[in-house]
Amino acid sequence: MKNYPILTTQRLTLEQPRITDIPNLIKYAGDGKVAATTQNMPHPYQAEDAVFWLNMANTGFLSQSKYIFGIRLKATDELIGGMGLHLTPEFNRAELGYWVGVPFWNKGYATEAAGAILKFGFEQLKLNKIYAVHLIGNGSSGKVMTKNGMIKEGELKEHYKKGDEYRSVYQYRLTKGEYESLQK
Ligand SMILES: CC(C)(COP(=O)(O)OP(=O)(O)OC[C@H]1O[C@@H](n2cnc3c(N)ncnc32)[C@H](O)[C@@H]1OP(=O)(O)O)[C@@H](O)C(=O)NCCC(=O)NCCS
Repeated sequence: MKNYPILTTQRLTLEQPRITDIPNLIKYAGDGKVAATTQNMPHPYQAEDAVFWLNMANTGFLSQSKYIFGIRLKATDELIGGMGLHLTPEFNRAELGYWVGVPFWNKGYATEAAGAILKFGFEQLKLNKIYAVHLIGNGSSGKVMTKNGMIKEGELKEHYKKGDEYRSVYQYRLTKGEYESLQK
């Protein structure tokens, strides 16, 4: 892939995050409610954290190991969140991760963006499996996955540690075959 991919949906554009997005990243990714249910969102979130994320998007694209997108509202061009695929090339699979700024919750944006990224992952990257996890209790994130046809495949007990606390997650998946069945 020569150029950084740009994905579009009815209301959103998903594209490479820009330096000019840094103020929105600090405002929206920096919200404690976003940090609370993500595995590794820094909190407090500072300009260097945003720069780290922009660099990760760029190097990930160049090495074809990560495809990280800023989620942008078509109507205003404003960055409202982030979503990405982190690849494990030897197994031809990727982990999907995402967040959306609190003022934009429950409007279907994450579901819409995830649909576009699943399509990109299976149809452009030719992945065999895409999976995602959410902390138990983060029902909203589970909804984003199931509304895109992802299937719960298990509970990973005390799989992560955040601060002093061990955290359990549910893992969801979609295989290439399952994705193709959904398109019929
Ligand atoms: C999870 C997150 C990305 C969802 O984004 P969003 O744009 O609000 O998601 P959507 O609007 O597409 O879908 C949310 C769905 O969850 C539902 N929902 C909201 N709160 C819920 C809850 N406590 N339990 C179950 N469902 C819930 C909404 O009603 C909606 O479903 P509907 O469209 O059928 O009504 C967003 O809340 C977020 O960024 N949270 C913090 C970071 C995070 O948890 N990221 C995921 C890590 S795995």
